[in-house]
Amino acid sequence: MNCPFEPYKIKVVEPITPTTREERCRLLHETGYNLFHLPADSVAIDLLTDSGTSAMSDAQWAGLMLGDESYAGSKSFYHFESVVRSLCGYRHVIPTHQGRAAEHVLFAAVVKPGMCVPNNMHFDTTRANIEHRNAEALDLVIKEAYDPHCDLPFKGNMDLDRLESTIERVGRDRVPFVLLTVTNNSGGGQPVSMANIRATRQLLNRYGIPLFFDACRFAENCFFIKEREPGYADVPVRGIARSLFSLGDGCLMSAKKDGLVNIGGFVSLNDEHWARAITDLLILVEGFPTYGGLAGRDLEAMARGLEEVLEEDYLRFRVGQVRYLAELLECGGVPILKPVGGHAVYLNAREFLPHLGRHQFPAQALAVALYREYGIRGIEIGSVMFGKGDPVTGQATYPELELVRLAIPRRVYTNSHLSYVAESVVDLLLHRDALGGLVMTYEASHLRHFTARFEEESSTRRLVPGAGLAALPH
Ligand code: F0G
Repeated sequence: MNCPFEPYKIKVVEPITPTTREERCRLLHETGYNLFHLPADSVAIDLLTDSGTSAMSDAQWAGLMLGDESYAGSKSFYHFESVVRSLCGYRHVIPTHQGRAAEHVLFAAVVKPGMCVPNNMHFDTTRANIEHRNAEALDLVIKEAYDPHCDLPFKGNMDLDRLESTIERVGRDRVPFVLLTVTNNSGGGQPVSMANIRATRQLLNRYGIPLFFDACRFAENCFFIKEREPGYADVPVRGIARSLFSLGDGCLMSAKKDGLVNIGGFVSLNDEHWARAITDLLILVEGFPTYGGLAGRDLEAMARGLEEVLEEDYLRFRVGQVRYLAELLECGGVPILKPVGGHAVYLNAREFLPHLGRHQFPAQALAVALYREYGIRGIEIGSVMFGKGDPVTGQATYPELELVRLAIPRRVYTNSHLSYVAESVVDLLLHRDALGGLVMTYEASHLRHFTARFEEESSTRRLVPGAGLAALPH
């Protein structure tokens, strides 16, 4: 197994505060077993998200000091604009404070009630922002994406037959644009191939429908293309990114991922009318178009991050570190979603806890146990996030997969931190029979995973005696 080389030295460190199992049990009880509500300094290894959690480089920190805070015409904006233009090649560059703000301004400008926006797979805020316009958000990823064992190089690909039949069914005029999420976060961080992007483009050309990218993790997607798609091994990742963006009409970006910053995003596009409508709205909800809800220093850090993320030593390490964790887990017999994606390892909770039914929220139970026993925070992507009660029958419906995502922040944790994570998960696997389920005691009407509360079924309280190696140092 290859231990990937970390292509940086550590100049600033942030202490990890140890907690005892007793404290973690108390915190879980107080927060209703919802890991979003934990104080972050009670978490030893925080794999809740790779979003906004990156460590910035010395060059980015230096850039903060150079940030120009002028209300209008900041030189940091022009730097940022030129970096985005040379990366994506689109005419208009509109900064926003994060990805969902970019979604909001684009969708508010062009998505009308009754319309339909296909995607390989929508992220939850993307879906919610489309539905907020009274439009339909459709997932049209290839069907293999739903099989956790199917090991395909480009499992994020769009199903072109379904895309075409959808356009035929709803009519071209009800599809304002099609999105492609690179990489496909909700489907396991799986990449989309250049061939699939090109074919999507060609299909949409026949209908005159624009193609947009949800480009949060574009660099990781491009690195997978270099590694896996014939003909790209010798093409620099920057060139692959240029080719990818050249097949679209615009993009949405949460720079909190592959922008290597803690806050920031943008919309970039060619269409003059759409850009004008978005800009008008931006002034209302985000700010003047040369700062868009950000400080000048944030724009400077984002400009530098978008350059650094294309460094191939960085990307090799990044994708390699996620793969390293996956390999350690697989060696210990842990069931994971295959193949491993670009930003996270996804534990397959139904196979990890086969004795729990869907109604017992196995993925949430697994995420809770990882925190309680080892201080590791992941996120449930299963029945809590996507399950629903049928409004008519009251019958619960469940998503295809029950996953716990262990998302790896960029440049934050060392390989030895990840070894600790792997050893902990393997240890938990040995004790899995002692794990019980959860009962949901509160749910909000939408995006319930953020605020849901749970109680343990009684069996869980007797869990994992002593929890082996995982006792945190304290
Ligand atoms: N699109 C994708 C594919 C995402 O993964 C996210 C965020 C967004 C849009 C929204 O961006 O958070 O800047 O508003 N994903 C984070 C995650 C939150 O944990 O996967 P945002």
